[in-house]
Amino acid sequence: APSATVPPFAAALAALAQLVPPHLLPPRVGIVCGSGLSTLAASLQGVVEVPYDRIPGFAKNTVQGHRSALAFGLIGDVPVVAMLGRFHPYEGHPLSAVVYPIRLLAALGVKDLLITNAAGGLNPDYAVGSIVLIADHLALPNLAGPLNALFGPTLSPDYPRFVPLSDAYSRRLRKAVLRSAYELAQEGVFGTRPADATEPWIPLHEGTYAYVSGPTYETPAEGRFLRAAGADVVGMSTVPEVLAAREAGVSVAVLSLVTNAVVAGSKADTFVCREVEDEILGRVQEKKAQETVSHEEVLQVGREKAEVMRQLIARTVAKLVME
Ligand code: 6GU
Repeated sequence: APSATVPPFAAALAALAQLVPPHLLPPRVGIVCGSGLSTLAASLQGVVEVPYDRIPGFAKNTVQGHRSALAFGLIGDVPVVAMLGRFHPYEGHPLSAVVYPIRLLAALGVKDLLITNAAGGLNPDYAVGSIVLIADHLALPNLAGPLNALFGPTLSPDYPRFVPLSDAYSRRLRKAVLRSAYELAQEGVFGTRPADATEPWIPLHEGTYAYVSGPTYETPAEGRFLRAAGADVVGMSTVPEVLAAREAGVSVAVLSLVTNAVVAGSKADTFVCREVEDEILGRVQEKKAQETVSHEEVLQVGREKAEVMRQLIARTVAKLVME
């Protein structure tokens, strides 16, 4: 792989060759575990974990709910590597540090990358706890200014200067995910089939991910803006990783877990003038509770859905190598 020649990739690859048994190398598939989803690695047999602080070039992790290790293991007989914990730009990491692990996985030999994340739901049809297969993205920070993870000199002369993204989300991988979801639904993993479900019942949504920098959650006006722009979910990760993977020729699929509904509503829901008028005139009014999202609730939904996500990823990996 081209990036293997760029320090500290060479040192990191040498460290991993020391720490990971040869039958687990090279990993064919990479998995990125999002908030509350570190248990995805439970699908891996004979796991060997390498903490990030033993790998040259890794940044230090800070967000709670994320672990900090690469887990190497087998799914069936496929060598897989899972990132337990990822780096976000909002932690203050430079974008080069955010994408470093992805570039390292590519240099290690990963061909297919399955990325998970926790996201806020913008599409009113998406219930909290539903899983969205990402088909496209809207990356506001990337459209203006130096916030695109591929800004700067290309890592390797073999890499394209201008990376196309019309095929960023692999149709081959997405089809494998959808077929896996269908099979698991038949086996009852997604619970009982809703009466209004279409036939065949594939209990995933397919949607567009809006990437924002965070760490603030969206205002109601921003929620409405992103929805109007065509986004179905919104989150603070994943897109830098997708770009680095695509630059290195790695295929990508992304699964978002909807951990909360973005509070968007209408302007009338946020304006309080009417309430003040009512108070002045002594008119009776129903009290509206102010809704907010919390990191705790995001992690909790992650934990609740982790088992379904785990099976979906494991089934998908098995399917990929059967092809
Ligand atoms: Cl509501 N917004 C963003 N930007 N990221 C999230 C989220 C919301 N919920 C989980 N992750």
